[in-house]
Amino acid sequence: MYNRRKFLLSSLAASIGISLPASGHKEYRYRSDRSGFDGPVIISTWEHGLAANLAAWKKLTAGKSVLDAVEAGVMVSEADPAVSSVGYGGFPDSQGEVTLDACIMGPEGDAGSVACLKHILHPISVARLVMEKTPHVMLVGEGALKFAVEEGFQKTDLLTPDAKKAWEKWKQKSMVPDDFNGGHDTIGMIALGAGADVAGACTTSGLSYKLPGRVGDSPIIGAGLFVDNEVGGAAATGHGELVMKTLGSFLVVELMRTGLSPEAACRSALNRIAEKIPLKPDYQVGFIAINKGGETAGYGLQKSFEYAVMKEGKNQLFKAGSLF
Ligand code: GLY
Repeated sequence: MYNRRKFLLSSLAASIGISLPASGHKEYRYRSDRSGFDGPVIISTWEHGLAANLAAWKKLTAGKSVLDAVEAGVMVSEADPAVSSVGYGGFPDSQGEVTLDACIMGPEGDAGSVACLKHILHPISVARLVMEKTPHVMLVGEGALKFAVEEGFQKTDLLTPDAKKAWEKWKQKSMVPDDFNGGHDTIGMIALGAGADVAGACTTSGLSYKLPGRVGDSPIIGAGLFVDNEVGGAAATGHGELVMKTLGSFLVVELMRTGLSPEAACRSALNRIAEKIPLKPDYQVGFIAINKGGETAGYGLQKSFEYAVMKEGKNQLFKAGSLF
């Protein structure tokens, strides 16, 4: 039995370019023949990713770091009042408070995150400072706000008149937060920059009309976002609880490490969700991924998922493949 398993593992490893040590136990070092850098590649979630890609592209082509690029990219969605699922203009929780979640990961394996942060326009920049200036990875709630203010961020009202109106309408009907009140259109972005370095960022106002204190997948390293500079990166959008239960972005990157293409890895991670978690018809999760060779993909549970890719100066929106 053991020998057969060892044989199967060795055959699989050989077919996808992984060398196993004599014990047959793993030493999964990703070996890629595709690490040549042919210029920046940026992928992000949803249509609002197009404007975000452009901002990231400008940074990369001006010689800025891949971290600068993803931060600047998602800041565009954070500041856009028309994006009702991210930053300013994001729909509030059930009490009418806008609370934001964000995280960032760089090529050195560094990571920073904030959750349930109120009053700050650019949570992604606070997450970056958590990464760069503290010994921690994640700050939440009041502590995150105190840190942001001490770092010079201005407190601001994030609830736009349109978002307030939508919340008041919801309140008249419901008052009971359920698990699918529309908007989950988080922006996740992964960029491949000079030297084939990979970084990612993810930021959201989370589930509309959520219970106060609810935190989704987006600020959780490995769930909403994961980067491994040897392999690539992945980010998630959609129903955060499903992504958290499967550590979705980490799973996508680990599947790419075994040799799967970004598309096969995203699809396989979604299959895992579908196998493990009882799904309701409207549940949506979308993954985006990029590998070290600059190959990109997006895949969703449902047909509605779209993602934006900027490469060779061309910025395009793609309809993602879907499980259902
Ligand atoms: N994916 C965003 C959230 O569930 O909060």
